[in-house]
Amino acid sequence: MKIKFQSCFPRLSTFLHGYTASTDNATQSALQFLNDHVSERAEEIYTDTVKMFPDKAKDYMISPGQGRFINWLVEMSNSERILELGSFTGYSAACMLSGYAGVDCRKDVTCVEKIKEYATMLKANVPEANVVNVDALDYLLSFTSDQEQQFDFVFVDAGKKRYDAIHDLLIKKEIVMKGGMIVYDNVFLRDRVFEDVTLYNEGKQRGMAEKMRAFLENVLKDRRAVLVPAFDGILIFNV
Ligand SMILES: C[S@@+](CC[C@H](N)C(=O)[O-])C[C@H]1O[C@@H](n2cnc3c(N)ncnc32)[C@H](O)[C@@H]1O
Repeated sequence: MKIKFQSCFPRLSTFLHGYTASTDNATQSALQFLNDHVSERAEEIYTDTVKMFPDKAKDYMISPGQGRFINWLVEMSNSERILELGSFTGYSAACMLSGYAGVDCRKDVTCVEKIKEYATMLKANVPEANVVNVDALDYLLSFTSDQEQQFDFVFVDAGKKRYDAIHDLLIKKEIVMKGGMIVYDNVFLRDRVFEDVTLYNEGKQRGMAEKMRAFLENVLKDRRAVLVPAFDGILIFNV
């Protein structure tokens, strides 16, 4: 495939302006290469979101390199029915819907986002998504067992304290079909998960690190799970 560096550079330079190097061990030119393979829509959502929420956007959104990575996972697994838990304004959803070389694909995507303001923007940014404005756990708890509703790819990017409960529900309720894939983001919690948790005072951060560590230790006993030490830690589980 012909790489479109020259033609893409103007919009890429704007796009990469909002990029946090610490979340992605890649050089700027490597990122330009990667970003050539996600859609223009995804890039626009990224830049607009950075402008709209300068304080939290870069922390919330997956990095552009990771956007291409999950896009590749969706494509290579031939996934057609995608569920995302924690969608914010739709950047990662748009990445998952990007076809190779930036052409959007037709896939079923359900995005669960609990904050109304984000859910509204998400619907505007990714109109084809089924946007569900509820808590991720409530969504999974209300899930009825029905073959038609099964997903083949789940991207979990919310409720980091509750990854264990989310995992149990996804498996026990057969929300993900056999052979499907679950991808958990931020399982390193910016490295807090491997630090001595006693360094933190009792409280939210320590509790989250302890819970994530226990979740990883438990789920990694299963040979269908793999921990990918990239980005902020990704756990992939093959159902
Ligand atoms: C890390 S951001 C997601 C970013 C998005 N996946 C992306 O890369 O563009 C997490 C999102 O999950 C939402 N969220 C947090 N807890 C949630 C929950 N329990 N249920 C549903 N959404 C939740 C937050 O409002 C936030 O928008």
